[in-house]
Amino acid sequence: MPRHFVDLFGVDPELANRLIDRALELKQRPAGERPLLLQGRCLGLLFEKPSMRTRVSFEAAITRLGGSAIFLRGDDVGLGVRESVVDFARVISQYVDALAVRTYSHKTVEVLAAAASVPVINALSDAAHPCQAMADLMTIRELRGALGGQTLVFVGDGNNVARSLAVGAALFGLKFVLACPEGYAFPGDYRARYAAAFPGSPLTLEHDPATAVRGADVVYTDVWASMGQEHEAESRRNDFTPFQVNETLLGLAAPDALFLHCLPARRGEEVVSKVLDGPQSQVILQAANRLHFQVALLEWLLAGESSAGDRP
Ligand code: CP
Ligand code: NVA
Repeated sequence: MPRHFVDLFGVDPELANRLIDRALELKQRPAGERPLLLQGRCLGLLFEKPSMRTRVSFEAAITRLGGSAIFLRGDDVGLGVRESVVDFARVISQYVDALAVRTYSHKTVEVLAAAASVPVINALSDAAHPCQAMADLMTIRELRGALGGQTLVFVGDGNNVARSLAVGAALFGLKFVLACPEGYAFPGDYRARYAAAFPGSPLTLEHDPATAVRGADVVYTDVWASMGQEHEAESRRNDFTPFQVNETLLGLAAPDALFLHCLPARRGEEVVSKVLDGPQSQVILQAANRLHFQVALLEWLLAGESSAGDRP
């Protein structure tokens, strides 16, 4: 059975810690001292939605490890239209050593993982963005030296990014607060799964952004309308306007609070430029860490425990 990385539910906290440790360690290495553990290996990238960071950071990550990538556009593959998800999974497994997929339905990623004989990585689905959340937690670890005991307040939609962050926060002992308008909280099936996985780390939901952000160690936001929700953009803009992360709202957080955003950002909507470009913002480091986390992830998925032999 190949290892997969479909969402953060089921990821062992010890593994999550180990991946971040390894990512931070490899990040420090100069080019000539990086382990080429995946020479001759190929990563398939199937993207049914647009991407910049995720696509480029995966291509760069596999290149750093000595391997290469093949990019597949969703329309060319026609998943579920030109051929079934299962047929695609079984055939692509003959050509590539791992597959990263960005798609709409989370079920598609699960079906791919069940049918593929190579590791499948979720590069964003409507329900999860686990690589993003791990890179974000790595960023907080890098800046703060530790993760436990901090409060991360996500101001915005209870979407893919927020859902993976909440699970990641529970894995690392951060308190997670979702500040959103009525109607945009986590769905019931997610809440039930979360409650079963983390009975000792209840999720906090807050509909007043000021109350939520007061004293926060990390303030995070994402677009109000995610990819695939563009037709709801206007109604979402109305609903989310009081939740904009501006200087007044961020000013309620701890004085040294970090501001994070997965990017791309819609300046003037969920965040203002003065915050995004301001002294508390760490969005560029956060984007950089997508690469470094994914190097560690690919190494774990494909080089397995052999990477332990590379440790100094
Ligand atoms: N944050 C993120 O996943 O960015 P892209 O959509 O550009 O990949
Ligand atoms: N929630 C956003 C994240 C983009 C990286 C989306 O799904 O469009």
